[in-house]
Amino acid sequence: MVDSLKKPGFEEIRPGVKVPAKETLLTPRFYTTDFEEMARMDLSPNEDELLAILEEFRVDYNRHHFVRDAEFEQSWEHIDGETRQLFVEFLERSCTAEFSGFLLYKELGRRLKDKNPLLAECFTLMSRDEARHAGFLNKAMSDFNLSLDLGFLTKNHKYTFFKPKFIFYATYLSEKIGYWRYITIYRHLEKHPEDRIYPIFRFFENWCQDENRHGDFFDAIMKAQPQFLNDWKAKLWSRFFLLSVFATMYLNDIQRADFYASLGLDAREYDKYVIEKTNETAARVFPVILDVDKAEFYDRLEICVKNNEKLGAITSSNTPKFLQFFQKLPLYVSNGWQFLRLYLMKPIETASLQGVAR
Ligand SMILES: [Fe+2]
Ligand SMILES: [Fe+2]
Repeated sequence: MVDSLKKPGFEEIRPGVKVPAKETLLTPRFYTTDFEEMARMDLSPNEDELLAILEEFRVDYNRHHFVRDAEFEQSWEHIDGETRQLFVEFLERSCTAEFSGFLLYKELGRRLKDKNPLLAECFTLMSRDEARHAGFLNKAMSDFNLSLDLGFLTKNHKYTFFKPKFIFYATYLSEKIGYWRYITIYRHLEKHPEDRIYPIFRFFENWCQDENRHGDFFDAIMKAQPQFLNDWKAKLWSRFFLLSVFATMYLNDIQRADFYASLGLDAREYDKYVIEKTNETAARVFPVILDVDKAEFYDRLEICVKNNEKLGAITSSNTPKFLQFFQKLPLYVSNGWQFLRLYLMKPIETASLQGVAR
């Protein structure tokens, strides 16, 4: 009993290989797209910027960055109990998200090679970065005697199909939010080294620059395709993607507030900061952004947080499954309603902001 408290039980496929977390609306997604349409894209309206970004990718600033140093070589048994559980989950989620980027970019690089060499090379070089990120996280998991079988994940994860336009919205945001997440943790721990419970956080400063460059690449692609950005549909989709990405992160992180607390961070403050910065960054390319300063925004998200807590309690109760469904139904309806109301909140037009250097 004491032992099981100390080393939280994770289900294993085989010794040391963790069963991947169950896929839900809130877990990282794997994407696939229309490769033909992607290959036909005309990049000439923004080719110079894309070539400059490709040059940066080729320089490979982080070639020697992801090397495990002496600080990793110690026992991590003192990170135990719930902290250990939350920490392994954090590593797994991050690894899965990085790996999903790797798979998508790698496949795009392969499929576009002959038809659109500029795009193809950019994607291949980004997949190089994501492979490093995922590998580094997976190695970190092995410090906790677990790892992910990435081959298993490739074969068994569900893939979501998105048209290229939506791939760009989604990946742009996930790169930029990734940048803000990593850099915010890094800066916090720089000020509070006593909270740095594990060396991986030291790597986040250069690491997040990869994500920033990846985000800039998608920014440049969207600017090469102005039809993705300049009509009323683009405005509706921008709102949808911003809201989905922010809400998913908020619900995930508040649920794991104890993890952030173990780093000395308040999950709510952390998320609000990351959302504010990502929203502000997105104003450089999206036609609208969300009015996240309005109290209603977080009030409604907090209702969803409460609903999710209740949903979790129902799932872990002994109530028969078919009765659970009826207990859960009103909570799902409430979440859907909150999401709709959030979606309908008046957005902020960015046309006037884009002229200003941000
Ligand atoms: Fe990454
Ligand atoms: Fe990335």
